[in-house]
Amino acid sequence: MKFFIDTANLDEIKEANDLGVLDGVTTNPSLMAKEGITGHDNIMQHYIDICNIVDGDVSAEVIATDFDGIVKEGEALAALHENIVVKVPMIKDGVKALKYFSEKDIKTNCTLIFSAGQALLAAKAGATYVSPFIGRLDDVSTDGLDLIDQIRTIYDNYLFDTEILAASVRHPMHIIQCAEIGADVMTGPLKSIMALLNHPLTDNGLAQFLADYAKGNK
Ligand code: E4P
Repeated sequence: MKFFIDTANLDEIKEANDLGVLDGVTTNPSLMAKEGITGHDNIMQHYIDICNIVDGDVSAEVIATDFDGIVKEGEALAALHENIVVKVPMIKDGVKALKYFSEKDIKTNCTLIFSAGQALLAAKAGATYVSPFIGRLDDVSTDGLDLIDQIRTIYDNYLFDTEILAASVRHPMHIIQCAEIGADVMTGPLKSIMALLNHPLTDNGLAQFLADYAKGNK
């Protein structure tokens, strides 16, 4: 399973990358705004800064919602760095753009996936990744993990190459359950990734080992 971090915060990206387990980054316009990154040139530079930290795929989202606009923005984003993945919303013109980008060998991440039908359509259009938002489904009393399971079955039935990128991850159990189901990638916040480290028996066991060593080596 690939681990992506879902943030535009450079310090958090560096911290996850330093752990040695980071395979990529996902961003979205809300995450960029949260970091105070505004204006076309600053946003473009920020994507380059992220690409200079992580050796892996970096999703950069288009703002346009019409085919020509998505293609123009997507091509400009893809030209920034070889690791940029063009993030395209699951809308009619987005699906057309996914097909266009796949024919040009430009990597894509189809975002805002909330149903198996949307994931099937994105795969048929040649998306590199689909991003089902599991946390946002949980927020409306619908099991997000069921969607990951459905998409896994469909993609395996037809051997689609599109990778399932479980998004909107909110806690470490989401990561573990997505791994059990067989999501190819998960993207989550730094705190969910770091929470995988923790177990009180590890802390107690280490404290005991260090105390016993200190007793015997005074
Ligand atoms: C995915 O690529 C999105 O950026 C993200 O996972 C959305 O997560 P949220 O529901 O926590 O905003």
